[in-house]
Amino acid sequence: MTEKTFIPGPEQRLAFREALGCFGTGVTVVTTNTPEGPAAITVNSFASVSLDPPLVLWCLDRDSNRFDAFSTCEHYAIHVMAQEQHDQALQFARNGFDFSHADWQPDDDGRPRLTECLARFDCRLSARHEAGDHLIIVGHVETVMHRPGQGLIFKRGQFGGFADLI
Ligand SMILES: Cc1cc2nc3c(=O)[nH]c(=O)nc-3n(C[C@H](O)[C@H](O)[C@H](O)COP(=O)(O)O)c2cc1C
Repeated sequence: MTEKTFIPGPEQRLAFREALGCFGTGVTVVTTNTPEGPAAITVNSFASVSLDPPLVLWCLDRDSNRFDAFSTCEHYAIHVMAQEQHDQALQFARNGFDFSHADWQPDDDGRPRLTECLARFDCRLSARHEAGDHLIIVGHVETVMHRPGQGLIFKRGQFGGFADLI
């Protein structure tokens, strides 16, 4: 395979995405409640920010048809997806307003809780930062759940699992 070096810009959008895709991540689904019902979005821009206070972030695409739902919400839940939740992560990437395939329940603040996830961070909005074509959303984590299991991985545009080196 040939090596590519370039200055990112409008002409190099795809190449820039390819380079970013070399960084393997976990996969999360962020959910919130809206006046029209529950909304979800599959997200791999999730990152931890601070332990004290407990803060996490994710980045929301300004072009998304879910922008209004997520850019203004006060309460949302970030679900770290398990390997066996691959189909659900794909479904929520395609459609954020159809929950018919999901097993979920609202918590006391209305956040839709998906069952079977590996970890869940129940957040209250802490800050929003403009960042180019995305909005950085920082949440204060109010409750955490996690369980043993294998996480879903995303790298170079593909879903997969985690393989130990040895
Ligand atoms: C693995 C994966 C990671 C994604 N990460 C993000 C993300 O961090 N932020 C984001 O806004 N959209 C992300 N998306 C895209 C959304 O899940 C969704 O596909 C997109 O918003 C669809 O466009 P729509 O919202 O206009 O329907 C990701 C999609 C996939 C499959």
